[in-house]
Amino acid sequence: MHRPLILAAGLFVWACASAAATAQVAPILTTPEAHDAHSFARPEIARVTHVALDLDADFEAHRMAGTATLDIQATGGASEIILDSEGLDIQAIADAARRPLHWSLGQGDAVHGRPLIVQIGAARRITIRYRSAPGAAALQWLAPEQTVGRRHPYLLSQGEAILNRSWIPTQDSPGIRQTWEARITAPAPLTVVMSGERLTRSGGEPAGPGRRAFRFRMTHPVAPYLIAIAVGDIAFRPLGPRTGVWTEPAMLDAVASELRDTEAMVAAAERLYGPYRWGRYDMIVLPPSFPYGGMENPTLTFLTPTVIAGDRSLVSVIAHELSHSWSGNLVTNAVWSDSWLNEGFTSYAENRVMEVVYGHHRAAQEEALSWDDMQAAVRQLGATAPGTALHHDLDDPDGTSAGIVYDKGATFLRTIERIVGRPRWDAYLRSYFDRHAFQPMTSARFLADLRANLIRGDRALEDRLQLDRWVYQPGIPDNAARPDPAAFAEVDAAVRAFDAGGAADGAAFARWNWAERVRFLKAIPRQQSETRLAELDRAFHLADSGNSEVLFAWLRLALANRYEPAVPTAERFLTAMGRMRFVAPIFQTLVGQGDWGRPIAERLYARTRPGYHSVTRDRVDRLLRAH
Ligand code: BES
Ligand code: ZN
Repeated sequence: MHRPLILAAGLFVWACASAAATAQVAPILTTPEAHDAHSFARPEIARVTHVALDLDADFEAHRMAGTATLDIQATGGASEIILDSEGLDIQAIADAARRPLHWSLGQGDAVHGRPLIVQIGAARRITIRYRSAPGAAALQWLAPEQTVGRRHPYLLSQGEAILNRSWIPTQDSPGIRQTWEARITAPAPLTVVMSGERLTRSGGEPAGPGRRAFRFRMTHPVAPYLIAIAVGDIAFRPLGPRTGVWTEPAMLDAVASELRDTEAMVAAAERLYGPYRWGRYDMIVLPPSFPYGGMENPTLTFLTPTVIAGDRSLVSVIAHELSHSWSGNLVTNAVWSDSWLNEGFTSYAENRVMEVVYGHHRAAQEEALSWDDMQAAVRQLGATAPGTALHHDLDDPDGTSAGIVYDKGATFLRTIERIVGRPRWDAYLRSYFDRHAFQPMTSARFLADLRANLIRGDRALEDRLQLDRWVYQPGIPDNAARPDPAAFAEVDAAVRAFDAGGAADGAAFARWNWAERVRFLKAIPRQQSETRLAELDRAFHLADSGNSEVLFAWLRLALANRYEPAVPTAERFLTAMGRMRFVAPIFQTLVGQGDWGRPIAERLYARTRPGYHSVTRDRVDRLLRAH
């Protein structure tokens, strides 16, 4: 039975039959702005509360195969439940007494998959027997040659935003939180890890000839995009009492050294935002085709190996994914048009954690880079473009501009911080996470919470903040908190000197950290002659840069000027990893160079495409088609 409760900022539904169940079952929002256009589910009629997976990872067929058992809460009159699905091969659906249930696949589309409609009658637990398709968008099945060890295959998943429906038949909407458990079998000697508590010891349990089973559970209700899996020849190294890292054995030493500050980051984040509620904070450093820098899968952050720079310079990615343990995983955007509530809050918190662990100067520099990315996004989209509002509707949930949701989002929170002062803002933000823990969030709900708990009727403060402008209007409001102009004082002077015709100062560049190098490469004018680029290349040893951010900034500049010697470097970079944030802009830059760049892009892509995850592949496919 539903028990609708009217709250100050909207309508909450706890789909639960008894008070005892309330703790387990997370509420859903039923206000219009919380309606998820990217899911076929009708959770106000029938919703999934728990998912139990029992799947075999089939490395021959490239399929996950087995069963998903779903616990359902439904209104009295409900006779069907609508799930999300994409390419699943459904074999049978039955109730708890194993009586078969009628089901059908409805009309869908290429982005969202198809609704799976199950006639549940009075059933409140159903078991779906199915297999994922070999091309399931969330999953990447890697050949041994795509790993460091080159001996064993590997499987990795990426669920956010709406890809998990390609391997899990459930309601794939971030506002429909679900607890879950899983038993996964894989061929020995591969190890399975997932984004939840491990219930089996590291070697798993025997599961028939040549196979082992691994069990997991997540007892907190989570958004289903946070269910994640990796299977491979991997080993674990503890970093601290509740932190550690998984990766291929050959990488373990380098990775453990790179990530040694993780425990200190968890402590810093807890001091800011309250207890870490997920038990362990482990990470897995994946093969290079992982399409993101990092993904905040609960208890087990997924990481690209491009963060392993050798000098801990890129660990802000860890601060970022860790911060999602509060913004994103604990308090979650109900719909993807509010993804700034996940990513903007997290980018802000990331910077606060970096400040505690590495000091004000480093944090101020990263803040200044973020400000530049925000300005670049507004310039690119246009200051009046609807896509520059923090809350904006999208056809494709992955089509957001990072410069807006991440950087404008973070700048907004920094602006509030500067206006109300740190102590008051920090206390508010901590209480916000407590008040909304394990619940979905919308822009409207956040603003209502801010008004009720921070502004409290102070008209003058309300006027200074310009909240609605920040969230709903395009462009950057004039009260935006600006970065410290001194953050890059030396670099900015070097940029001016170079721009005035001075020589590239190799000694200075050698001394600079990655942020300073990136600032320089992004701040000099976009148009450079071949002579000047050759001079930079030589003086700064750019072709051999081991830092992926520096290499990326260099390649964009060089290729935009048709600098031929950068092509082999680009080829190496694009072959060595599949991180979308690097790969797509490089191809974009190339195709932007018409008859010079387009043939290069097509030649390179023909070679690199098969190695990319569907996330990266789809993005580059689209941009090559569009130009
Ligand atoms: N949650 C994101 C990754 C993501 C966003 C996946 C949207 C799918 C859809 C993750 O936390 C992230 O932001 N990763 C960044 C790194 C970060 C330091 C900015 C990335 O991948 O570059
Ligand atoms: Zn993020």
